[in-house]
Amino acid sequence: MARHLITSALPYINGIKHLGNMVGSMLPADVYSRYLRQRGHDVLYICATDEHGTPAELAAKEQGLPVDVFCAQAHDAQKAVYDGFALAFDYFGRSSSPENREITQHFARRLNENGFIEERAIRQVYSPADGRFLPDRYVEGTCPHCGYDKARGDQCENCTRVLDPTDLINPRSAISGSTDLEVRETKHLFLLQSKLENEVREWVAQHDKDWPQLASSIAHKWLTEGLHDRAITRDLDWGVPVPADTWPELAAEGKVFYVWFDAPIEYIGATKEWADQDPENRDWKSWWYQAEDVRYTEFMAKDNVPFHTVMFPATELGIREPWKMVDYVKAFNWLTYYGGKFSTSQKRGVFTDQALEILPADYWRYFLIANAPESDDSSFTWEHFTATVNKDLADTLGNFVNRVLSFSRKRFGDAVPEGGTPGEAETRLGEQIAELLAEYEGHMETLQFRKAAAALRALWSAGNSYLEEKAPWLEIKTDKDAAALTLRTAMNLIHLYAVVSEPLIPATATAMREAFALTDDTAAWVTAEEAKSLSSVPSGTAFTVPPVLFAKLTDEDLAAYKERFGGAEG
Ligand code: 2FM
Ligand code: ZN
Repeated sequence: MARHLITSALPYINGIKHLGNMVGSMLPADVYSRYLRQRGHDVLYICATDEHGTPAELAAKEQGLPVDVFCAQAHDAQKAVYDGFALAFDYFGRSSSPENREITQHFARRLNENGFIEERAIRQVYSPADGRFLPDRYVEGTCPHCGYDKARGDQCENCTRVLDPTDLINPRSAISGSTDLEVRETKHLFLLQSKLENEVREWVAQHDKDWPQLASSIAHKWLTEGLHDRAITRDLDWGVPVPADTWPELAAEGKVFYVWFDAPIEYIGATKEWADQDPENRDWKSWWYQAEDVRYTEFMAKDNVPFHTVMFPATELGIREPWKMVDYVKAFNWLTYYGGKFSTSQKRGVFTDQALEILPADYWRYFLIANAPESDDSSFTWEHFTATVNKDLADTLGNFVNRVLSFSRKRFGDAVPEGGTPGEAETRLGEQIAELLAEYEGHMETLQFRKAAAALRALWSAGNSYLEEKAPWLEIKTDKDAAALTLRTAMNLIHLYAVVSEPLIPATATAMREAFALTDDTAAWVTAEEAKSLSSVPSGTAFTVPPVLFAKLTDEDLAAYKERFGGAEG
């Protein structure tokens, strides 16, 4: 059985992320990891904060903190939110770790030995008003390709093209807004991506047949533009230093690697951080080096795709060592807020910490996965969110669980009732459940999250239909055994829901599972046979009625959310 290595794009250290970030990387990676673990696979899910670069420096300055102190605090703050969302990382690391420094420097040395790095004098944007060289992303201007007037010097957010700051029309400093920009000469390391272009092309051609359309189309679009040599160092205080043994002059000048050079290497770095926590029992290298038995899946939003399908692969290919390269790139479109952009800088939309202040993680996890922007952008609205919570979570699942258990307790006491023999309705139900379960599994295996959520919802619905059809509240009047059979079957459904809903709504899954005092309830998944027979919770099993699983959201709640976060016009 393959081992599964899973990573989600490293959230930038600067600021708590919004729901759009969550749904485009970490949450689906967590759902997929949980699913695979439940199915018995060996899974390693790694993520980390992406800590280097100018935004971290500037944010630290704004808060009056040394940048390392700022990053340590900001890392902990993000980690706390991810814990709140029940993201079950095997390790959540930091790209500023010594492990990442070591591996990044090793990669740079190897690229250099192989002739893929060259020292070049470049002319770089210097802003006298700011008293510094401006990193690419701090030069703003109009995109020469699409005309977007807030394009950054590293990439146009609008058309996703990678840019150089000098490509921009009407450039200005993003720090001060100053248009008084000079170009000064300074030396930097260049990664000779042009020399690797053909290899990258071949590698993409070998893999992209299996990738989702979004990822391969972006990779091709990027390759069509050609792979240009890129500066991989910067004049900053904060970053992985250029190794002095190889580039003494640049090291003495304090050059560091560009954040996009060391960030993807941190997938490996964080794996080493994980292993360094328990070196006796953990082996980081076997996941990454000559790791032919590993299947590596990456999760990210579409703006990250060029870096993961072309640029980082170029780096990996140039090292000439057998490091693991990605097998499957799961990319996401944007989640919009009422059709507009979620924006960290403009504080528009819902941030992950605020979301958890309002409602527990499972509400968000389910909604976001059910509406993941897979084939297209999808829009978050409070109307849609409250309606989905009420219909799917409160009514279809929560109310079913509560109704079945409360009614059974009232009529039969605190144990799963005995009596009745499964008949045609139970056979039909079992077959339907087995079929829907197979559908759900199929969508999980192929990483189609919206469809997986729809199949899960259909499983919950099937329980409701069965209950309506059998109507135990009527059966009880004429045939106690018939009512007992219906309730027992429904309770078995609840247990099945507990097991298979766990990837999406882990806390609720636990609450449902713990309702039954089963001895030795270790079921990790449900087989087709078990789904058909619906008998893993035998009569006589003691149970409790859990508190309401999902609160129904009222019109007042909806109004309050819209008031707090803004509606259509943000
Ligand atoms: O786009 C971003 O927010 C980056 N911090 C993603 C980095 S992913 C990886 F390469 F590290
Ligand atoms: Zn553009």
